[in-house]
Amino acid sequence: MQNTTNTEDVLVLEPGQSPPMEITTPPRRPKWDDTFKYMANPDQFCRRYLQEYGPIFNTKVFGRTTIFLGCSRAIQMAFNGDLKYTEIALPATTMDMFGEYSLFQRPDLHRQRKSALAPGLTGRVLDGYTPHINDVIIRGLQNWSTPSHMALYPAVEQICFDVLTPLLLGVSLDDHDPATFQGLPITSKAELKALYKTYFDGFYGLFKWQSRLTKYGRGILARAALLEFMGAVVRRRRAEGQDINPTADFLSMMLAGQEENPDGIFSDALIENQCLLQLWASHYEISGLISSLMYQIARYPQVLQKLRQEQANLVGENGNFQMFSPEQLKQMVFLDATIKETLRTLPPSATAIRQLTKSVVLDGVLYEQGCAVMAEPRIAHIMPEHFHEPEVFAPERFLPERGEGKMYEFIPFGGGVHACLGAQMAIAVTKVFASHVLQAFDWNLTGEPKFVQFPLKKLKDDYCIEIVRRVP
Ligand code: HEM
Repeated sequence: MQNTTNTEDVLVLEPGQSPPMEITTPPRRPKWDDTFKYMANPDQFCRRYLQEYGPIFNTKVFGRTTIFLGCSRAIQMAFNGDLKYTEIALPATTMDMFGEYSLFQRPDLHRQRKSALAPGLTGRVLDGYTPHINDVIIRGLQNWSTPSHMALYPAVEQICFDVLTPLLLGVSLDDHDPATFQGLPITSKAELKALYKTYFDGFYGLFKWQSRLTKYGRGILARAALLEFMGAVVRRRRAEGQDINPTADFLSMMLAGQEENPDGIFSDALIENQCLLQLWASHYEISGLISSLMYQIARYPQVLQKLRQEQANLVGENGNFQMFSPEQLKQMVFLDATIKETLRTLPPSATAIRQLTKSVVLDGVLYEQGCAVMAEPRIAHIMPEHFHEPEVFAPERFLPERGEGKMYEFIPFGGGVHACLGAQMAIAVTKVFASHVLQAFDWNLTGEPKFVQFPLKKLKDDYCIEIVRRVP
C-alpha cells in the first residue's frame, strides 16, 4: 500500500453518482453508549477497537456516526477535504463555546483569518517573546520550595499562566498589586482561572440547555464574562494611548492590524474572541504538555541523562543559565525529540471532527456523506506501521537518522488547513521551561499517576512529585 494520498486517490462522489463496485464500508456497528465509553477513557476505547477492527472503524460518538481514522492515508484524506468534501463539525455545545469568531467556524473566512492571526504566534515575533518566556519561568521556578512533595500540574500551570497572559493579552496580573487589575472586571488571577474552568467544562456538556443547572449553561455564562474581561483589557490598552508595537504581544499585533485597516478582518469582536480562545488553548495545552514531559523524563533516567548532556554541551554545566536564545532552543534536538515522544505517547486530545459534505472513496472504502470522520492520534501513534515498537518510550525515533513521525502519522497538532496555529509556541515555551527545570531541579515520581482523560489528557491535580533543588 502507498503511504501518501494524492488528491486523485480520493474519489469524491458528486450527488447522485454511484460508488464503484467492489467497495466496502468501515467495520463495526455504532453503539448508543460509545460517547460515554470514549469520554471515560479515549485511550482504552481506541486501543480496544483498533485491536478488534483495525485502524478504521465506526462509532457513534457525540450523537452521530463518526468514523475513527488511524492510518495515514485515511488521515490525510480527512485533513485535506476542507471546502472540497469536509467541514469542521464539532458537537453543538462545543461549537457554541468556540463561537462564531473561532477558526472552526465560517469555513469561507478561515484562510483569511488564520493568516492574519499567525504572525502573532509564530516565526520572528515568537522568537522575540523568548526573553519574556525565560524571565517569567525563572522567577516562577524560584518559588518552587524544595525539598518538597509538590503537586506537579498546579505548579506548572501557575507559571504557564504568568508566561502566557502577557504574551497573548499584553497584561501581567499580580495578585499582590491591585493596580494590575485596574479597569478589569475581576480582582484576582484565581477569578479568571475559575471562569476559564467553568467555560471549559461547558465544552462537552451533553445537553444544550441554557440553564445554570447544566455545564453547558454555566459555560455560556462564563464565556460571556470572559469576553467582558477581554473587552476591558482592550479598552484599558486603548486608554493608555501609547503607540502600539505589533510585535510586543498577540493583542498588540491584532490592534495594530485594526489601526492599519479599520474595516479589515480585525473587528473588536474578533479581537476579543481570539484573546479568549488563544489564552484558553495555550494555557491548558501547554501546562498539560510540560507536566506530562516532566512525568516521562522522571520515568526514564537514561533520557534524563541525555537531556542533561545536551544542555551541558550547549551552555556548560554551571546550572545557573539565565536566558536560552531561540538559536539555542533550535539546537536542542534531543529535547525536541523527547517533547515529541511525550506528545506521541500521551497525546493531549483528538483532532477536530470533520463532517463529510460529499461521499468519498479511498482504498476501496466508502466514507458516506453525512458521516463524521475523526483522525485519532491515540490510534495513529500506536500503529507499528507508523512507529517501530510503539509501546517503547524512545525519543531517538524522532531524530533525523530514524526519521519516524511523518506527516499524517504523528498528529498531536492535527493537520491540513486546520493544523494547530500554536504548535510552534507550545514547543518553544515547553523547551524553555524544560531547560530551566533540568538545570535547577532533580525530581522523582511518587507512585502510579492518574490522568484526566477527556477532553484533554493531563495529570490529575493531586499527583505529586518529590523535588529537590540541584546544587550548582
Ligand atoms: C501542546 C500544545 C497543543 C496541542 C497538543 C494542540 C492541539 C491542537 C489540535 C489537535 C488542533 C486541531 C487540529 C485539527 O483538527 O487538524 C488544534 C487547533 C488549533 N490550536 Fe492547538 N494545540 C496546542 C497548543 C496551542 C496553542 C499554544 C495555541 C495558541 C496560542 C493553539 C491554537 C490553536 C488554534 C487557533 C487552532 C485552530 C486552527 C484552525 O482551525 O485552523 N494551540 N490544536
